[in-house]
Amino acid sequence: MKGKILVTGGTGYIGSHTVVELQNAGYDVVIIDNLSNSNIEVLDGIEKITGVRPVFVKGDCTDLATLTKLFEDNPGINGIINFAASKAVGESVQKPLLYYYNNLTTLINLLKLMPQYGTKGIVFSSSCTVYGEPDKNPVDETAPIKKATSPYGNTKQISEEIITDYINSGAPIKSIILRYFNPVGAHPSAEIGELPNGVPQNLIPYLTQTAIGIRKELSVFGDDYNTPDGSCIRDFINVVDLAKAHVTALARMLEDKSEEKLEIFNLGTGVGLSVLELINSFERATGVKVPHKIVGRRSGDIEKVWAEPKKANEVLGWKATTSIDDTMRSAWNWQLKLRERGIM
Ligand code: UD1
Repeated sequence: MKGKILVTGGTGYIGSHTVVELQNAGYDVVIIDNLSNSNIEVLDGIEKITGVRPVFVKGDCTDLATLTKLFEDNPGINGIINFAASKAVGESVQKPLLYYYNNLTTLINLLKLMPQYGTKGIVFSSSCTVYGEPDKNPVDETAPIKKATSPYGNTKQISEEIITDYINSGAPIKSIILRYFNPVGAHPSAEIGELPNGVPQNLIPYLTQTAIGIRKELSVFGDDYNTPDGSCIRDFINVVDLAKAHVTALARMLEDKSEEKLEIFNLGTGVGLSVLELINSFERATGVKVPHKIVGRRSGDIEKVWAEPKKANEVLGWKATTSIDDTMRSAWNWQLKLRERGIM
């Protein structure tokens, strides 16, 4: 075994894909998840893909006693990948304290325990949301951090500051902060994927649910933006490519491939695609039509944002390689699998 890694939020969307890649790379994985936005059956999906069932602890990372017990019961945790967080932008506006409490307490508890248990590094899930509406695209890691437009976005900014301050205080840990652009798609096996609770707020789950007939029509939020076709532009990154970046980042910290105690990387493809182009790509890749109509803008949306992934490409030696059409096919196969299993 290469080492023992704690993955918080490991049964969630990005977490589960990362657990698979960690196991494929030879790491031993311990998951903690409170199952607030995921399902225990995700463990079966992971096991089907890798042949290994990760250790699972059902618990909440906001509870220091639960986390302490986890470290006691699973000695020798070398690294942490922290996915455990609340992530719905709209809900965060309604319930700001829940978001600040969950996201910040979890991080503080983990940071507090790391030196105590000799855990060397933590990979933190951040977001391109920290750049707000960028002054120019593509966005690199030196772009200014803009005032957050939601409590969710603010928890990402504050979390980055907490990690920075803690490391600057001389704490004996390392960290890599990963700023994701828009993660989409599912594992090519269709054994794991995104399982949104209730009516999806994000584009791809709404799109695949519309394509399969659960939703009548996809609303495209605005076609009057200053973009070639008028719809918003994003950098849609395949979730398996994204998961692999976590394994590379982790190895970089644990194997001391860098002198730096804290590094930040953008994770995107470097290509901006509009919402309408994405719908086209889905239809082309799957042959399935997506009924859609143009409606008004969604408040708080960024007009256009895509990544400059050069630093991750060159320094981490990682690159997003999956085509958008393959990614769309994987999202569709996952939706079909959910139907087959009678889940949706
Ligand atoms: C948002 C957050 C991001 C967060 C991500 C996942 C911001 C600025 N961005 O990304 O930090 O990590 O959610 O929760 O806070 N769209 C439609 N119809 C739909 C749904 C979406 O047209 O039914 C459009 C949106 O207007 C947007 C694009 O699709 O232009 C992507 O939307 P979405 O998937 O919700 O992600 P973001 O808003 O980019």
